[in-house]
Amino acid sequence: MTAVVTADNLAREYQVGGGMFSKPGIVRAVAGTSFSIEPGKTLAVVGESGCGKSTLARMVTLIEEPTSGTLTIGGKTATPDKWRDLRTDVQIVFQDPYGSLNLRQRIGAILEEPLKINRPDMSAAERAEKGREMMRLVGLREEHYDRYPHMFSGGQRQRIAVARALMLEPKLLVLDEPVSALDLSIQSQILNLLLDLQERMSLAYLFISHDLSVVKHVADDIIVMYLGRPVETGPKDEVFAAPRHPYTKALLSATPSADPKRAKQRIKLAGELPSPLAIPPGCPFAPRCWKAQDKCRAERPELFDIPHPAACFFPEN
Ligand SMILES: Nc1ncnc2c1ncn2[C@@H]1O[C@H](COP(=O)(O)OP(=O)(O)OP(=O)(O)O)[C@@H](O)[C@H]1O
Ligand SMILES: [Mg+2]
Repeated sequence: MTAVVTADNLAREYQVGGGMFSKPGIVRAVAGTSFSIEPGKTLAVVGESGCGKSTLARMVTLIEEPTSGTLTIGGKTATPDKWRDLRTDVQIVFQDPYGSLNLRQRIGAILEEPLKINRPDMSAAERAEKGREMMRLVGLREEHYDRYPHMFSGGQRQRIAVARALMLEPKLLVLDEPVSALDLSIQSQILNLLLDLQERMSLAYLFISHDLSVVKHVADDIIVMYLGRPVETGPKDEVFAAPRHPYTKALLSATPSADPKRAKQRIKLAGELPSPLAIPPGCPFAPRCWKAQDKCRAERPELFDIPHPAACFFPEN
């Protein structure tokens, strides 16, 4: 099957500082990131705050150009001159539906807006019909068409954001912490809605989350990021059952297990996350790793794949 999206060695840097009193610095927000996602599949990106998840999301949704590397969407190389054409294939849903919806617009107008901009062939009646159909699909009632976002609960607002993202029938949905702002009881409703929509429409998902219990529920494959780089990637079941990178192992040890017999020893990481402006030489995780040796502090391990890729000189079993 052809991938909906392929990323090859994507990287994004930012220049920061460089005012009167400081030298400019380079933040390597994302580096060396490769993956592909097939229709109907979910790739989850996990990692601590600041590891580059949203930067990756902005590159994949054609909001920001990679500093280097190649992004291919639907078989086409996504250079900025093609962004206009490719944009309808990729849509994004953010964490906070309050911030991402225009509060002065009625739901109907919010849903119809992408069609107004991108589908000049459609009549007003066709747009309204499509908007109403999408409301049904995401589990909202048609009477809500003329209401404003503040009249809805957080979960309903996230349904509206999902509906808007799907109006142009994209092939790929980037979900940046889509349930992190919601109550626990609402989270699973929205996750199940996303899974249901994925199946109906063969959508590919790039699912960003810091919450491994959420990822466990939705992902097919997973990328664990640390300071902008993937440190482990592979099928979710494999990574959860047998994490290879010590960082992945530590993250998983902090996730509550449903099975009390398998209650894990929680691994507490020593030290702070290093500044992204001063990523240590060698393995970026070495300063916090209980297994680190001289080699780890001198040389950066590449991802290599037995049985699934991990960037570690001394991987777990
Ligand atoms: N426009 C920018 N200019 C400078 N630095 C930036 C910019 N955007 C992101 N960064 C830096 O890049 C790194 C990655 O940020 P990013 O927002 O992608 O992380 P994240 O994994 O989404 O974090 P969170 O979980 O908190 O949302 C951070 O160190 C951040 O400060
Ligand atoms: Mg983010």
